[in-house]
Amino acid sequence: MTVLGVGIIGCGNISRTYLRNAPLFRGVEMRAVADMAPAAARARADEFGVKALSVDDLRASKDVAIVVNLTVPNAHYPVSLAALKAGKHVFTEKPLAATAALGRKLVAAAKANRRAIASAPDTILGPAGRMARGLVEAGVIGKPISGTAFMMSHGMEHWHPNPDFFFKPGGGPVLDLGPYYVTQLVNLLGPVRRVLASTTIGNPTRTVSAEGPNKGKRIKVETPTTAHALLEFASGARVMLGMSWDVWRHGMHPIEIHGTEGSMRVPDPNFFGGIVEVARGRGEWERHDTSGAVFGKPNNPPDNPANANYRVLGIAELAEAIRTRRASRLSGDVALHALEVMEGVLRSGARNRAITLPATRARPGVMTEEDAAALAAD
Ligand SMILES: NC(=O)c1ccc[n+]([C@@H]2O[C@H](COP(=O)([O-])OP(=O)(O)OC[C@H]3O[C@@H](n4cnc5c(N)ncnc54)[C@H](O)[C@@H]3O)[C@@H](O)[C@H]2O)c1
Repeated sequence: MTVLGVGIIGCGNISRTYLRNAPLFRGVEMRAVADMAPAAARARADEFGVKALSVDDLRASKDVAIVVNLTVPNAHYPVSLAALKAGKHVFTEKPLAATAALGRKLVAAAKANRRAIASAPDTILGPAGRMARGLVEAGVIGKPISGTAFMMSHGMEHWHPNPDFFFKPGGGPVLDLGPYYVTQLVNLLGPVRRVLASTTIGNPTRTVSAEGPNKGKRIKVETPTTAHALLEFASGARVMLGMSWDVWRHGMHPIEIHGTEGSMRVPDPNFFGGIVEVARGRGEWERHDTSGAVFGKPNNPPDNPANANYRVLGIAELAEAIRTRRASRLSGDVALHALEVMEGVLRSGARNRAITLPATRARPGVMTEEDAAALAAD
């Protein structure tokens, strides 16, 4: 198998997870890292034995076929665009770009440069996503009619050492954690055609409580921190989606889908594994534990594993798509649609009216257990 070289741009918080996970996958090799703060790249390079380069040199490196964009959301567009123009394939952290208009330009730039762009979240290709999609495809719950999805917590300032970007346009729960939920819903139900939402900013300022140099800093909140939305899917299914960083504690399940024949519960799409539950008609919940499946074994956090975090699966999937000349399951088209849904939620909230989305057939391709196993290192 041809191994594709990978270079990371953006050596912050999440880059360590990517560098740590890379050896778990076949067909990709981490070769270089870069950051606009050279010391950040140097630190990761020393930790993981890869080259630290300038951003320009990484983009020009012949060792690198895929640029992985782990910069902050507002930098996703310029960093991905420059990489595509330099002839690299791109895997980007979510969201694809800070706005759908910029996301559209990236998808067009990839086509114009004959390069692939794919995007996180790759969690939906984990065993819970594969199990849930398989059950839907097999008709176990019949035709999906309705559902609920909830991502609610009390914000990010208590754990992230540099949390400003979460509270600026391009961040917020809708664009930061929404991608996991929206992409999983599109995976299970297909594209969304219409969005109606109501949004608010729960608190105009946030105070950083995470340890570090920013502790005590006040952040002005410039994007909604609570959004409640109704998603109407092209299939006819309706899903209520709640996303908030103004909630202390709650009892809602991450995702439930209800069909003509049964109901399904899907675990937190921010992780790869977990338990998928199905009720056939009025029957009890049947539990499908995915922790024994490929990329399902809890490995996160490393010292006391509680959940499965196999980020890099999407890069290995993209590398295989490039090698076999097919579209990635996490293609720019899928990420763009997810971004249009999320932007639709924010626009609907701001304008107080329903938003009809551009028609699309974008939906992640099915990944079977065999497909997943083929990407795992020996
Ligand atoms: N932190 C997490 O747990 C997590 C989880 C999943 C996804 N993500 C996503 O990953 C991305 C990065 O998040 P993070 O938490 O690592 O952020 P971070 O702020 O810790 O790190 C971002 C890094 O990117 C660098 N950078 C910013 N703009 C740049 C540019 N134009 N060129 C080169 N380098 C640039 C910064 O110097 C910084 O080192 C975000 O899109 C976020 O949504 C983060």
